Amino acid sequence: MDLFLKTTLRIVFLSLLLLVITACTKEDRHPVPLVPVEFRINLEFQFIELNSIGGWVNVTGGFGGVVIYRMSVDQFTAFDRACPVHPYDQEARLVVEDPPIAKCNVCGSTYLLLDGSPISGPAKHPLRPYRTVFDDPFLYVTNF
Ligand code: FES
Repeated sequence: MDLFLKTTLRIVFLSLLLLVITACTKEDRHPVPLVPVEFRINLEFQFIELNSIGGWVNVTGGFGGVVIYRMSVDQFTAFDRACPVHPYDQEARLVVEDPPIAKCNVCGSTYLLLDGSPISGPAKHPLRPYRTVFDDPFLYVTNF
């Protein structure tokens, strides 16, 4: 195999390796710290608020608590209640006064519970999302 081909293959291999390494070690840059989240809710017996579309509930877990919102018959969203602007401030926890909008009472940022995006105030980062899987009547909330 000639030198040029050998060198080219080496460069391609090293580039692929670098790509894999960076992809695997992608740092979690969300301002709300990553903590393990894994729980299941049985909607037949728990949180009647989630039985209607547009319903929401705050539950314990995550870094600053978890807010769960029902978007449709089979779609739910879940986010950490810690405000990404000042996550370590115990007062900076989202409250839902006008669903699907959640508000931080410290600096007044508001977020959309449909996708976690900030819609007003000083917030730049979206809410930390948690994965939801609905297998009626069970709702699984995890972060992996
Ligand atoms: S702490 Fe939430 S907006 Fe400032």
